[in-house]
Amino acid sequence: QQNKLWGGRFSESTDAFVQEFTASVGFDRRMYRQDIQGSQAHATMLAEAGVLTNDERDAIIQGLDEIRAEIEAGEFQWSVALEDVHMNIEARLTDKIGITGKKLHTGRSRNDQVATDIRLWLRDEIELIDGEMTRLMTGLLDLAEREAATIMPGFTHLQTAQPVTFGHHLLAWFEMLKRDRERLRDCRKRVNRMPLGAAALAGTTYPIIRERTCELLGFDGVCENSLDAVSDRDFAIEFCALTALCVTHLSRISEELVLWTSAQFNFIDLPDRFCTGSSIMPQKKNPDVPELVRGKTGRVNGHLIALLTLMKSQPLAYNKDNQEDKEPLYDAVDTLAGCLRAFADMIPALEPNREVMREAARRGFATATDLADYLVRKGIAFRDSHEIVGKAVAHGVDQKKDLSDMSLSELRQFSDQIDEDVFEVLTLEGSVSARNHIGGTAPDQVRAAVARGRDAISG
Ligand code: ARG
Repeated sequence: QQNKLWGGRFSESTDAFVQEFTASVGFDRRMYRQDIQGSQAHATMLAEAGVLTNDERDAIIQGLDEIRAEIEAGEFQWSVALEDVHMNIEARLTDKIGITGKKLHTGRSRNDQVATDIRLWLRDEIELIDGEMTRLMTGLLDLAEREAATIMPGFTHLQTAQPVTFGHHLLAWFEMLKRDRERLRDCRKRVNRMPLGAAALAGTTYPIIRERTCELLGFDGVCENSLDAVSDRDFAIEFCALTALCVTHLSRISEELVLWTSAQFNFIDLPDRFCTGSSIMPQKKNPDVPELVRGKTGRVNGHLIALLTLMKSQPLAYNKDNQEDKEPLYDAVDTLAGCLRAFADMIPALEPNREVMREAARRGFATATDLADYLVRKGIAFRDSHEIVGKAVAHGVDQKKDLSDMSLSELRQFSDQIDEDVFEVLTLEGSVSARNHIGGTAPDQVRAAVARGRDAISG
């Protein structure tokens, strides 16, 4: 079958391989709903502008409704000869309603049509992704509240640093996602602008009413310049950039989950339903979900680079290069949505091994800074107290003893400023509770941060 929609000036048919090579219907049919939605709004506006009669408009809208149903019933015959989703649907409309179908494309080009479709499609996907992000964030807040007073070691350089609460650690993850959701919502503002009306590149001679189409499609406004409207894909690049950041955050969380589920850490258990086994080693239970999410970072970073490179040096206005925008964008959307969904399901099911976490904090001299601060309160300069506590730790390493396991006289070898009240400071609970300011790890601060987080996500 030959493409009849632009055949007028051609004297031979398209090379069979070129036809396949240049076609996009294999993937862009994914936007069939948005393509129909855009066409129906365009026809409605054309009738109001007096370009179509009301009968023509009604036939077009009704025909497109039927086509949507055919596609959804799996009855639609997609044709590579018809190149892309736009011409497949338009050709079918003309089959169904005759010559009126050919009037739909009045005052429009596939260039503004495709740019509009992608924006409508991405806007719908952003809505779904926003929902999954919010579900994950809610799960983190609930878990953080439950674990507000659970002690674990906090790390720097992956070495035990100071005790923190597990709730506080979870809220660090929450903060990352909160910013990701802000970026998503900010990106949506620039996605939600309407290219339709730009036509091929210069606008159209018909008396179109862009504001009306804009309103019908729920766009926040029109793209101001027709050349820019059909050619730029910066909104898709922005989406890929925020996706790369978000999946990077998820990969950091994943890395911690992988470490923590290992026998060597044993901080948490993941329920079996989020893990898989080994076909050879019967004892294995592998944290596949976090590992896979960690691995997905590679492909989304790749999509960002692909789109940046696609756009680089493209002259105005539309170029066929831009057909290459879709697959990376689609995959970025699918990957982000999948990672968020897996995490939103899994995070509430984490089971912390509280005793193991606490013991790990106790063993790592995690309260050494607290002892140094204690000596400062007794009048010793911080640099001197740092030195004193360093010696006490060296003694502990030598004797295989934590600071809190030493007797008062043992501790007093290092400074006679140390009294009985030191043991309060050396407890893990004392250490975390003392960090009692906004952003600190104290259980009360974690609970307050959870409350603020709940306000933030309902906004
Ligand atoms: N399939 C094309 C794309 O994805 C639609 C626009 C085609 N326009 C053109 N002048 N060839 O970009």
